[in-house]
Amino acid sequence: MRTASTEQAKTVKASTKPSANAAGTTAVKHDVIVLLKNDHAEVKKLFKQFDKLAENEDTQGKVQIANKICAELIAHTIAEEEIFYPGARSATDDDDMLNEAIVEHDSAKDLISQIQAMDPEDPMYDAKVTVLGEYINHHVEEEETEMFPEVRESKELDLRELAGKFSARKEEILSQLSGVNGELDAQQLRTLIGAAAHH
Ligand SMILES: [Fe+2]
Ligand SMILES: [Fe+2]
Repeated sequence: MRTASTEQAKTVKASTKPSANAAGTTAVKHDVIVLLKNDHAEVKKLFKQFDKLAENEDTQGKVQIANKICAELIAHTIAEEEIFYPGARSATDDDDMLNEAIVEHDSAKDLISQIQAMDPEDPMYDAKVTVLGEYINHHVEEEETEMFPEVRESKELDLRELAGKFSARKEEILSQLSGVNGELDAQQLRTLIGAAAHH
């Protein structure tokens, strides 16, 4: 009895192992919409942390979180634009929705550049980060209530395949942005924002 149940447990365990597809890439557990929503939730938490640190006048702490927000948002928006938006555009056939989303990304990138160029002691620093959070909230709301459901309903995209591509691209950008001691590489950030602006 004991042996049989152990065997059974082993079998279950083996079958849940990630499998490799023909291309040799590891299959991912989630589809891309789940990953995008996870990112949204993560960054929302970071904005909350920023608020607390700013309230406590912890300049070093708040700058660290603001830099993390900037890096996360740049990686998310660029990977989203490259990997998810083209498919979303063809699946929904809604150019207006996709164009507006790109304009919103551009506004966020613009604000991120301004934040990076600022002295954290500047009285406008906190306001810029707060407004960035408000822009992102609005944008995320539109993605989650309009774009994502429309894409999912269309059933036109391989959302699992896109998840793998999205994660890989995002990781690549995040590692580009990580400078000495894991600090944000501000020069790289400017280069990435500049390159994105000239697409
Ligand atoms: Fe997003
Ligand atoms: Fe977005």
